[in-house]
Amino acid sequence: MKMLALAVIFTLIATNLALTEQQSKLMKRIVNGQPTKLFERPYQASLQVLYLGNWYHICGASIIDCDRLLTAAHCLIFPAETMRVQVGLLNLTAPPNEYQQTIEIKAFKAHEDYINDISLGVPNDIGLLYTKTPFQFNANVQPVKIASPGLTFDNTKCVISGWGKTSGTSAGSNILMEVAMTKITLKQCKEEYATYGIAVTDKAICVFDGEST
Ligand SMILES: *[C@@H]1O[C@H](CO)[C@@H](O)[C@H](O)[C@H]1NC(C)=O
Repeated sequence: MKMLALAVIFTLIATNLALTEQQSKLMKRIVNGQPTKLFERPYQASLQVLYLGNWYHICGASIIDCDRLLTAAHCLIFPAETMRVQVGLLNLTAPPNEYQQTIEIKAFKAHEDYINDISLGVPNDIGLLYTKTPFQFNANVQPVKIASPGLTFDNTKCVISGWGKTSGTSAGSNILMEVAMTKITLKQCKEEYATYGIAVTDKAICVFDGEST
């Protein structure tokens, strides 16, 4: 995993979304986090793209069943043949562990009402990845639990995880990181983000670390 090209791809995605530097700093970060322990996030996947002969982590994804994952629609900008997912792993650069699986992507589908426009709050930024072959579930490869409809989880503690940046300026982390957050209300979220000129749609799920956004 070469960090320079990784940064190039992130820049490409950021450009694609037309984010300002400050806006992009607010997103895709696991700041003040800690390394995830084995078996804690068995649904966490790394979506990767093949570029000039190397695979690069571009986005996180969550396993939802044996051959589908959920990711962000803005991550679906490369042909399916150039994408794969890795599951069951914590360290992207370490030799494969006993749980790890690398699976090619057959197809993907962004939400039909996804709009790649930051001024609208990038509505419906969600999509599905379909794998060519099914996952073999094991102690560190499991589907994520899906909440019942209608639950808001407002003011509930939660954990976000990923291989994202660990600060506004650093490169992505090779190690899966996680950080505790609190799910905030939509009203609170709109107030927080208004100061940065970022629109928030009514379907957004916002978390807050209680100190800084
Ligand atoms: C991740 O794997 C690489 C390559 O094996 C190794 O150099 C690095 O120390 C590992 N990181 C951690 C935190 O274990």
